[in-house]
Formats: sequence, structure tokens, C-alpha cells
Amino acid sequence: MTQDELKQAVAQAAGDYVAKHAPAGSVIGVGTGSTANFFIDVLAGIKHQYRGAVASSEATRMRLESHGITVFDLNDVDHMPVYVDGADEIDGGLNMIKGGGGALTREKIVAAVADTFVCIADTSKRVGTLGSFPLPVEVIPMALAHVSRELAKLGGRPVLRKNFVSDNGNLIIDVHGLRIADPQGLETKINQIAGVVCNGLFALRPANVLLLGTADGVLTIP
Ligand code: 5RP
Repeated sequence: MTQDELKQAVAQAAGDYVAKHAPAGSVIGVGTGSTANFFIDVLAGIKHQYRGAVASSEATRMRLESHGITVFDLNDVDHMPVYVDGADEIDGGLNMIKGGGGALTREKIVAAVADTFVCIADTSKRVGTLGSFPLPVEVIPMALAHVSRELAKLGGRPVLRKNFVSDNGNLIIDVHGLRIADPQGLETKINQIAGVVCNGLFALRPANVLLLGTADGVLTIP
């Protein structure tokens, strides 16, 4: 199977999960990236069962709207049963690195509101220890140099993402060379650096369910 076929398979499994677990008339949280895009295409087929969606990025909002799915402002939604999103890496505790597409801040906010975070990923994303994928950190532009110095003190090699501005008007630093033994501790520590908006560790609020695309089919973990 190609990687796209694996992504399609997990997107379909996420559609089945939503159909089973999200009550009719509810609002679905939708992530960002190529795997999430496949999920949006699946969601289009069952959209009549739901009130609409909340988007974790402008790109996702546009794709949802192109399918005729109503997109709500998160402030107008008080309950969201399920959030579906991809990941750049996911470990055995369902802690993740996200933000390869630069949407980490809105993804973390939408995920915080949802009852259940369903991560959809192919086997290439499954790791023993997080950190081979550079950790994205969203930063207020005036704090770039300060935050970079602080991230270097934590043992990483900060690299400014070139020609990229987030949906929130901020910059992204990709931190290379981290071996993340304590994902919750590092997520907390990076959040405390002045000028950091958000970091791509999703460990304080990990996924609840992983739908993992493998050559033998989609595994549901745990
Ligand atoms: C975007 C993300 C994505 O979920 C992550 O980058 C995975 O993307 P893809 O499904 O394209 O591999 O966090 O900010």
C-alpha cells in the first residue's frame, strides 16, 4: 500500500468512528494536514448527520467549506464530542509531535475543547521516543532571538522556518536534535519561555485513540 492509501484508510476509519461516537447534530473538530484532508473528504459524505465542523486552520476551513460543510467559530461551540487530526510523530503513550503544517496552536485549542482526540496516522509516524521530527514552536516575532537562545539551552538546535507565517501572524521555530524522554515536562518547560505561543508537543493532552494505518489494516489503539 502507498502512504496515501494508508492515509485514506485511516481517514475512512475515522469517519466510521465519528459516525459511531458523535451524536447526530453535533459539531466535529477537524485537524490540518494531508491525512486530515482525506478525513475531510470522508466527512463530506456524512455531513448531513452533523451541524458542522470547527477548523484548526484556514486551509482546513477552506477545504471544509468547499465541500459545503458549515464551519463554526470555536467560541460559538460549547461541546465537541470528537476532534480528528494527524500527527508528525506519536509514541506508545499517544503523546504526539504536531505542527509540521504550522497549525499547532489552533490544533491544540480545538483539541482542548473536544471530549475525544482521535489521531489518524500511518505507521511511519509511530515512534518509541519523540524527537526525530523537529519540534515546532510558535513564537511572537519580537521574541524570536530570545526564544531561540532558551531552546538551545534545553539542548535543541532551533531553526527558523523559512518563508512561513502562521494563521495567527507568528513565526515557527523547528527544534532539531531533541530526544524527548519526558514529553509532559518539556511541553510545560517550553510553554514557560516568554514569547512562546505554543509548542508542538501534545502530551498534557495526548490523543485518546490512535487509528494507525498498517499494511495489514487499520489498528485501533488502545
Ligand atoms: C499540522 C499538523 C499535522 O497534523 C501533521 O503535520 C501531520 O500532517 P500530515 O497528515 O500531512 O502528515 O500537525 O500542523
